[in-house]
Amino acid sequence: MTTLVSRSPQRPDDIVVEAREATAQEVGSAVGGARAAQHEWARLPATSRAGILASAAERLAAAAGELTELGIREVGKPRSEMSGEVARGVAILRYYAQQTLDPDGTTLPSADGRSLLLAVRRPHGVAGIITPWNFPVAIPLWKVAPALAYGNAVVWKPAPQALATALLLAKVLAADLPEGLLSVVPGDAVAGGALVDASDAISFTGSLDVGRAVVAAAAARPVAVQAEMGGQNASIVFADADVARAAAAIATAAMGYAGQKCTATSRVVVVGNPDQFTDALVAAVGALAVGDPADAGVAVGPVIDDAARRAVLDATDEVRDAGGRILSGGRAAGREGYYVLPTLVDRVAAGARVLEEEVFGPIAAVVAARDADDAVRIANGVRHGLAAAVFTSDLDTALDVSSRLDAGLVKVNAPTSGVDFYAPFGGTKASSYGAREQGKAARDFYTWSQTVTIAPSRR
Ligand code: UN1
Repeated sequence: MTTLVSRSPQRPDDIVVEAREATAQEVGSAVGGARAAQHEWARLPATSRAGILASAAERLAAAAGELTELGIREVGKPRSEMSGEVARGVAILRYYAQQTLDPDGTTLPSADGRSLLLAVRRPHGVAGIITPWNFPVAIPLWKVAPALAYGNAVVWKPAPQALATALLLAKVLAADLPEGLLSVVPGDAVAGGALVDASDAISFTGSLDVGRAVVAAAAARPVAVQAEMGGQNASIVFADADVARAAAAIATAAMGYAGQKCTATSRVVVVGNPDQFTDALVAAVGALAVGDPADAGVAVGPVIDDAARRAVLDATDEVRDAGGRILSGGRAAGREGYYVLPTLVDRVAAGARVLEEEVFGPIAAVVAARDADDAVRIANGVRHGLAAAVFTSDLDTALDVSSRLDAGLVKVNAPTSGVDFYAPFGGTKASSYGAREQGKAARDFYTWSQTVTIAPSRR
């Protein structure tokens, strides 16, 4: 029997919660309970589901302080980002409460001119939701809220590193929901696998390797599946960009929350001579406060655990050993907790991890490009395709380059990280599989379309 232990990354002796991993059988009974509750939930008038979700939003707003403190302690997210994330969670719930009242299908002209021909959206049943630790409130909510809004029940397996935050969030939400409609199964691979095997639709955010296995298992059954599997995101800087603004935005995108976002910038592609921009970027990274994420003003806290710190230091050693330059950081901070100093590198040999893989830590590489074509080629030269940014003051450059980037999210003069919950979210290539998340796009995933013909009973 595996015991899950969630520790505070800034104070690893601080055990936030310990729990036993749910067995496959326990996951099965959570899904069974959810299925029983779902029938009635789906039959409620949409106005009732709207009212219940709106009430959950207000309950979450009332618990915002407690949830923010717990999130900071458990996953080491800096205070301003964590409180912003909880506020975003409240907004997501309010938004999906109202989405329940949107049209639930379309009508079409009937073949005989007298019948009704409808395409109606129906819920799948039980949505199995698997979430990472890095956005312990927003990612679960942008899956759970639309799943419930459109009439599904939810069984949710959060990452073990964010278990306490998940349990508190679920407790807040469950206060308004019918028994069994939303449940949490603590666990890792075993519980996750069992959930994939038992759910009617699966929404996953996490690593590429696990995401591929989830997609394959879901396709074999087959049930609806969507997977968000990370990024290796480039920010392209042109010579006509506002240097100070671009440097500040990229420093935040690369190092904010210690780079632990699938939308973080990992490659800074500078068109032309990179020297002036590199200096500005080193200064902007140096201006970010590193320290205890509970302290106001801190932008960079620890990484999630020792393995994560090792991964960043190994990626740095690889650059150093191949003759690359370490422009800043490149080592652990001399303090308790899993801190790594924000690390910028350049002159990196081709094939290095920092240029190709998602290291998921405070590390980014500066890469020189000859011209726009070269910059686009470099930006697209990875298997991921989640986010990209272009920094320029020239509209034609912005239009041309953004249309050629293989990225689900393109920002012009803005950081790669940060998303709007009412806009579709997802990537291309290996970053994402299946329907988009968030906004109205979520309905396409959490429902299926039933075509209904209603003919008159008499000729
Ligand atoms: C953001 O940049 O605000 O796991 C959201 C992640 C992404 C979410 C990023 N799915 O980092």
